[in-house]
Amino acid sequence: MKTIESIAKSLNGKKILLRLDLNVPLNRQKITDSNRIDKIIPTLQFLVKNKAKILILSHVGRPKGKVIKELSMEPICENLKNKLGQNIHLIKSNINNFKDEDLFYNKNESILMLENLRFYNEEEENNEEFAKILAGFGDLYVNEAFSCSHRKHASVFSITKFVPSYAGIQLMSEITALSKITKDITRPITCIIGGSKISTKINVIKNLISKFDNLIFVGGMANNILKNKKFQIGKSIFEENCDHIVEDIFNLSKDQNCKIIFPVDASVSKKIDGKGDIKKISEIQEDDLILDIGPETLRILDKTIEESRTVLWNGPAGYFENENFKKGSLEIARKIVEKNKKNEIYSVAGGGDTVAALNSFNLTKHFNFVSTAGGAFLEFLEGRDLPGIKALY
Ligand code: 3PG
Repeated sequence: MKTIESIAKSLNGKKILLRLDLNVPLNRQKITDSNRIDKIIPTLQFLVKNKAKILILSHVGRPKGKVIKELSMEPICENLKNKLGQNIHLIKSNINNFKDEDLFYNKNESILMLENLRFYNEEEENNEEFAKILAGFGDLYVNEAFSCSHRKHASVFSITKFVPSYAGIQLMSEITALSKITKDITRPITCIIGGSKISTKINVIKNLISKFDNLIFVGGMANNILKNKKFQIGKSIFEENCDHIVEDIFNLSKDQNCKIIFPVDASVSKKIDGKGDIKKISEIQEDDLILDIGPETLRILDKTIEESRTVLWNGPAGYFENENFKKGSLEIARKIVEKNKKNEIYSVAGGGDTVAALNSFNLTKHFNFVSTAGGAFLEFLEGRDLPGIKALY
């Protein structure tokens, strides 16, 4: 792969299409965790120092081809402006209607940002015409979005067919760190999978089973397991039509000697902004929402982590954004950090929400490696070629 750093000397005056993953958690257009923005600052500073003009391409959320005000890039652009101390013009007009000479017409502007690319259906459809339009806005393309390189989308994949394309600094550091981890990993290995993006993750798990000694399901991911085992999960989130995948996971885990662990108790409430009641899984009622793991589950997890040499964690254990449901994620993090400080475990965490949870607990720095990526992190561990990275070769 050609890297952007290798052509630093020829960037002067070049228009760079910089694909970032600024998909940060937003609550009523307020950023609740800015980790993905903070991580990208050195790349922007590198490009500015080398006198490049930058057009930032990103998505946020899943607007599914519709213009949704709450998913505008506006607060992200503001945040970045303040951090860099320079103006960034957010271009809101439809990209089909503007010409490349409309960009950078103001000589003093070196950074522009396009509005959320997922406002266009063509982005997720990987539409080549759309990719060509995007490609026409710049002289070269940089993928600096490891965390969405598993998506075969127009601005990640097809765009590379129409413009010279390079790997970004942050992208390279994630690939290097995760490659090292997959090579040098020490058993017993425990993988904790949680969070709410069930459809993204459930299909990947089957191929991961042979690599792990323990697979722990928490958060929304665990609900599909509980449902498959005929437990009541009330109004909790789950993914339809996944029973066959769950059954495959259990069958494979027996063959491959991987222990599967899932919650035996939970903290539930009738609403997400409510308080938690601890219930055994068998006591959950039709109108309950499972919002965190319970103390007995935590005890089992604690013992499993204690016996592990490597832990990979992707996806929070509960709805940590509400103080009442952060205990599961916090205690998992504390246990890993306690082992890490004694040098008894190698710890890797990944995913926007997991990193947001760790940041809110102020524990991020005690992990050996923290990836910005969630789904991409799991697919990389699986050994799959990520389309966005393959396209750069
Ligand atoms: C992520 O947050 O993992 C990436 O931005 C990809 O988002 P997606 O799962 O909505 O495609």
